[in-house]
Amino acid sequence: MGFGALATGDVTASERSASAIGFAGYAEPLSLAMAKRACHSKCLSFRYVKGPDLTGGNNVGALERRSLKQKAARFFGQWGVFFRGFIEHPKMVGSIIPSSRFTIEKMLGPVKWDECKLFVEYGPGVGTFCQAVLDRLPRDGALIVIDTNPLYIDYLRKHFIDSRFTAVHGSAADVEEIVKAHGHDHADYVLSGLPFSTLPAGVGPAIAEATYRVIRPGGAFLVYQFSAKARDYMAPYFQRIERGFEALNVLPCQLFWGWKEPKS
Ligand SMILES: C[S@@+](CC[C@H](N)C(=O)[O-])C[C@H]1O[C@@H](n2cnc3c(N)ncnc32)[C@H](O)[C@@H]1O
Repeated sequence: MGFGALATGDVTASERSASAIGFAGYAEPLSLAMAKRACHSKCLSFRYVKGPDLTGGNNVGALERRSLKQKAARFFGQWGVFFRGFIEHPKMVGSIIPSSRFTIEKMLGPVKWDECKLFVEYGPGVGTFCQAVLDRLPRDGALIVIDTNPLYIDYLRKHFIDSRFTAVHGSAADVEEIVKAHGHDHADYVLSGLPFSTLPAGVGPAIAEATYRVIRPGGAFLVYQFSAKARDYMAPYFQRIERGFEALNVLPCQLFWGWKEPKS
């Protein structure tokens, strides 16, 4: 069975693979070399063997265990897809593990949701932020996510069934065309999980400039990254940049909120 099997959401196989490659939790990041070695030596030999149902399958404990298993399957299925994307495109993904809930809470904290009609996200990966955004977004709002990786876009289209949600396969550099093509003049907020430090030369500054143009006055560019590189790209455009830090993330990350001043 190939590594692609991690995406099937099968809990037993996924649990084995998670421990085999060292996913003991958010506390144990892997280097690319380690991850590739683990992937080749362990994942390629996985075989899922269905075990007997010792509980009889009709008591409360069994139901609870099944529900826990389903939750775990969804969790590891999502991680499996994310990890596969990292192995295939390490520089474009830039991280081996999705962002933590602490990062999500802190990053979205300053957003004025009642004034948000269009929220755009760059580099959603497997949608770590998407449900949190949808939970806060007004009923007539819209969330457009843009990612260059077709594996992630395919996953998102299958897993986020919400009329406000659109997943676009493309580059953040084309945000203005994408926003217009979906019937909007501007975005209220743009969130970025892009690995600015490892993007091809020139792409980071171009994205920062296009983002400034697409955001309405009073809106903001929300950026999280392991390094502070993104701030260098934001600084020429965004008059006010607030800064934060989240330690409970693998790796700990820098947060920036670049505000586009309201028209005077
Ligand atoms: C660090 S991952 C972010 C994962 C996710 N947002 C999270 O919080 O767990 C970076 C993502 O950026 C995407 N990406 C890289 N370059 C991009 C670009 N130019 N436009 C859009 N997405 C891009 C990658 O495919 C990947 O999904």
